[in-house]
Amino acid sequence: MSQAVLEGRDLQRFYSVKRGMFKPEATVKALNGVSFSLYSGRTLAVVGESGCGKSTLARLVTMIEDPTAGELLIDGKPARIGDASLRSQVQIVFQNPYGSLNPRQKVGSILEEPLKINTRDDAATRRRKAEEMMTRVGLRTEHYDRYPHMFSGGQRQRIAIARALMLRPKVLVLDEPVSALDLSIQAQVLNLLMDLQKEMGLAYLFISHGLSVVRHIADDVMVMYLGRPVEVGTSDEVFTNPRHPYTAALLSATPIADPEREKNRIRLQGELPSPLKPPIGCHFNPRCWKVQDHCRKVEPLLGDTGNHRYACHFPLDGSEV
Ligand SMILES: Nc1ncnc2c1ncn2[C@@H]1O[C@H](COP(=O)(O)OP(=O)(O)OP(=O)(O)O)[C@@H](O)[C@H]1O
Ligand SMILES: [Mg+2]
Repeated sequence: MSQAVLEGRDLQRFYSVKRGMFKPEATVKALNGVSFSLYSGRTLAVVGESGCGKSTLARLVTMIEDPTAGELLIDGKPARIGDASLRSQVQIVFQNPYGSLNPRQKVGSILEEPLKINTRDDAATRRRKAEEMMTRVGLRTEHYDRYPHMFSGGQRQRIAIARALMLRPKVLVLDEPVSALDLSIQAQVLNLLMDLQKEMGLAYLFISHGLSVVRHIADDVMVMYLGRPVEVGTSDEVFTNPRHPYTAALLSATPIADPEREKNRIRLQGELPSPLKPPIGCHFNPRCWKVQDHCRKVEPLLGDTGNHRYACHFPLDGSEV
């Protein structure tokens, strides 16, 4: 395959946290060994419950923070904070289109701001580019002078997407881009994203709590648990033949109409453990219904070869889900 536009090599990000006046500082391993390759025109979904490290990964790949260890490559070049040319290659769309747009700025000026900062385009060129992008994401150019609050949630997310595309990046990081929207609007925004991807050859890193949202948009899926990938594979493989019990549980949590399957639904038991003190052995073991003694002692590793990898001592064989 051609060169990856975005590549992570064993990325780690640790944070020191104070736990009170007299306790020593502790370390949160927000991200602990994440590797992936993302290609033009493809979508990698990163999926997992709250706190598994999704937004931390987003901050690393958008060069808002440097990794504690490991390497990030954008277009094959090592990325470090402060490298403006690489930084503009990776743009982000956040979950909340209400908070991410400045309420005092008109749409036109929101879209033109990245051009003002990063290019020498004159005012007329900026306006033309902004209007072209508005049309492209399904906004009317008559609305150039409107403020964000005059738009619906879905339209605001279109504005955020347009802004992210103004510098023609190669990669978009989508951090739960539709989860704040009504269900009917979600499909529209997902369709728009898929159209834009085809037209512009964009690569997407699509972050999501749940698997159902990414089913139609993802080519590849990485399931994360407490800062580590536990299953990685093509979307087909992960959805039809999940091998890690955690993936199966996430799949089982997605709404289904079939009453037979409803009966067999796997329910995740127990709480997510504290990231300050992850369980010994397999981090998932206290919540796993397939747990054996070995899992409480030895941490399973993600294999480093093959198209479908999973970190589990006793993987499912497809007949159990
Ligand atoms: N700046 C920070 N300082 C200390 N701990 C942090 C910091 N940022 C993140 N963490 C911790 O790292 C872990 C991963 O956080 P992160 O925000 O990446 O999770 P997430 O998967 O995006 O969760 P959510 O689904 O809730 O958005 C959490 O335990 C979080 O508390
Ligand atoms: Mg997050």
